[in-house]
Amino acid sequence: MLLRFGRGRRKDTIPLGDAAIVFFGGKGGVGKTTMAAAHALRFADQGLRTLLISTDPAHSLGDALAMPLGDKPVQVTERLWAREPDADAALRRRVRRIGDDAAQALPREILPAVSRHLEHAAAGPGMAESALADLLMDTMEEVPEHWDRLVVDSAPTGHLLRLLHLPELLTPWVQGLARQRERAVDADRFAVGVAGGSQESGDDPLLEKLHARRRKLERAATRLRQDAEVRLVLVPRRMVLAETDRAARELMEAGFRLGTVVVNQVPDDVDPGLLTQVHERFAEQGTIEEALTTKEPIGLDALRELMPHSG
Ligand SMILES: Nc1ncnc2c1ncn2[C@@H]1O[C@H](COP(=O)(O)OP(=O)(O)O)[C@@H](O)[C@H]1O
Ligand SMILES: [Mg+2]
Repeated sequence: MLLRFGRGRRKDTIPLGDAAIVFFGGKGGVGKTTMAAAHALRFADQGLRTLLISTDPAHSLGDALAMPLGDKPVQVTERLWAREPDADAALRRRVRRIGDDAAQALPREILPAVSRHLEHAAAGPGMAESALADLLMDTMEEVPEHWDRLVVDSAPTGHLLRLLHLPELLTPWVQGLARQRERAVDADRFAVGVAGGSQESGDDPLLEKLHARRRKLERAATRLRQDAEVRLVLVPRRMVLAETDRAARELMEAGFRLGTVVVNQVPDDVDPGLLTQVHERFAEQGTIEEALTTKEPIGLDALRELMPHSG
């Protein structure tokens, strides 16, 4: 059911799909941010309360929408909000929160060790990423109460895959703290009593919190597999198709659902054989095509023009 018009090019409508959480993936420059914005706008125009959020620390959603965005959601249209979370602020909040928990839950003697542990962890490359992931997990809990659709302009495929594995990454940390905690209990049971903690590590407030956090990540990892889909974006080039093919396999092996594949920036003189290859490779997911426009599709009007918004 290809509708063809103009100079023989087909014109597609952005599908609403049934996944509440929609990620956009693909190589740099293919048009992930542009497509995330265009699809979110389409969802909102169809009456769905939509939050568009960027988890790429190099935010560019505001550029695509042609409006300033910030750490808090900004209303874009009647039903569309957009947000570019501040990764550093998320990281600081997270370190502070854990520090406060530790100060409350642990005896004084152990605090220097905990704070060394925390500084070390905060400086590691994984921590900023996991702070943003944390924020995304929190936002996911607002679906479907607050949002019918959560559209995520995400960093590369590897980042998405790591999100799924965060629960396992947290386990060694929880165990490390548990060991420290047991040592402190052995060394000074009295201090534990003074600090208001119980001597059973089972009802230790800090460990309880960490275990709760791990359960939350596990819940999120399950939801990422059940309620989310990844819409891969590519441009019609052989090398890009090869890379998209690998990304699709990896995502599917990790348990992600693949949604509609967007073939973006299709030039008038595109190699039809290559387009056929793309459509065949992603026949199961379905594909939509978007022409290469002479003007960059920036701002709401241009984004709405990218694909027909009726129907
Ligand atoms: N269909 C299109 N036609 C013309 N320019 C496009 C199209 N889609 C995206 N662009 C432009 O290509 C550049 C990269 O797009 P962007 O969405 O930032 O890609 P990504 O997020 O994948 O890096 C931007 O300048 C954007 O305006
Ligand atoms: Mg981008």
